[in-house]
Amino acid sequence: MGDLHHSGSRERETRALEEVLLSPVPLLGSGVVLDELMGALGHALGAAGVALVSAALPPESAVLAAAGAGGDDRAALAREARAIVAAAGAPGDARRLGPAGGLRAVPLADGRTVLCTPVPGVREAALVVLPDGAGLEDVSRLTVALAAERAGAALELGRLRADLDRAMAQILESDERMLGRIGLDIHDGPTQHLSVALLELQLLEADLDDARSRGVELPPALMPALERIYETLGGALTEMRELIGHLRPAQFEDRRLTDILSDAVTGFEARSGSRVEFDAHGEFPVNGVSVTQRITFYRILQEALNNAHRHGRARVVRVALTESEGGISLDVRDDGVGFDAEGALRPRTGAPIARFGLHGMRDRASVLGGAFAVTSAPGEGTHVHVFLPRWRPADAVTGLPA
Ligand SMILES: Nc1ncnc2c1ncn2[C@@H]1O[C@H](COP(=O)(O)OP(=O)(O)OP(=O)(O)O)[C@@H](O)[C@H]1O
Ligand SMILES: [Mg+2]
Repeated sequence: MGDLHHSGSRERETRALEEVLLSPVPLLGSGVVLDELMGALGHALGAAGVALVSAALPPESAVLAAAGAGGDDRAALAREARAIVAAAGAPGDARRLGPAGGLRAVPLADGRTVLCTPVPGVREAALVVLPDGAGLEDVSRLTVALAAERAGAALELGRLRADLDRAMAQILESDERMLGRIGLDIHDGPTQHLSVALLELQLLEADLDDARSRGVELPPALMPALERIYETLGGALTEMRELIGHLRPAQFEDRRLTDILSDAVTGFEARSGSRVEFDAHGEFPVNGVSVTQRITFYRILQEALNNAHRHGRARVVRVALTESEGGISLDVRDDGVGFDAEGALRPRTGAPIARFGLHGMRDRASVLGGAFAVTSAPGEGTHVHVFLPRWRPADAVTGLPA
């Protein structure tokens, strides 16, 4: 009888462990995943509720994730988060699964007793189990420890993602500053010189015309040659101005993605004489799209528009920005000459991310976990598609300071 009972609880424990193990991998520390992990743990334990609390945050955000816990439970846990975390002990204790380690019973002010355990790798956080009527005896320490371990990994990934976000933003922003400086240098240096040279040439032509009207004989090839030089210099000046327009840094902080992109469209229309239809579907709130994503969409749009004009000789370009549950898509379709997109995108290694061009667009999208595709064929126009996954500020995900 004792054996039977023993094997029954072993089986239950195994099932509970499996349930927690099968809960989603805490990829990128997303808050949704933490909630799912809490749900799996609560179900596996048959607990009334499960929560992850932090003592490092103010009460309104002290409950990082929870399942089964009602509003009153959450409020009680938030109020007593510090006491709970202190009672849970040091993270190292969580690995000890014997009767003395792992789970601690903590009485709440409302008279209930909860079980808690520290979260490995994350100071000032604890995993809390609200037992149901059956009491505290039956809770599987191993399952709770496993869930705490996974919650710790998810929070740690969230912190790493926040670091990565910050580093990426710094790199892209310093890229932007550098591009802006190059644009200014080109504007103040070679562009000015070219303008002066064009002016000199015009004066020279006028002088020569004068001389000719006074009967001075000029070599017949002289005037056509001057005309060709004039055109070449004029072409170079136009290209320089386009380049400067491309390098001009946009204001990315505190501006909505739609405003930033519609500036890019307006600038492009003015420079190229092409027509662009720009449609945006969605809210694109400033705090829902990271600066890194805004810079990325802006640069990719600029490059796609430039390519449509320079290579495709497109007359009309349609740009669509669409927000969905999973993220944001940008689609740029031109009615130009098209090209062999597969050939142009064949793998190539060692290209830096700051580079323009199709590979640059793809690299920029991929470092942000997004997708990029170009579809085109000679004579059929070109469609550039970029998708970046939904972004949430990392501290809204983990709730923990870096
Ligand atoms: N919209 C388009 N229409 C027609 N051809 C295109 C289009 N986009 C790209 N291409 C073709 O693909 C090639 C590669 O484009 P990509 O943007 O990578 O380089 P690039 O524009 O030539 O140079 P960079 O962008 O580095 O200044 C182009 O040279 C062009 O032949
Ligand atoms: Mg290009």
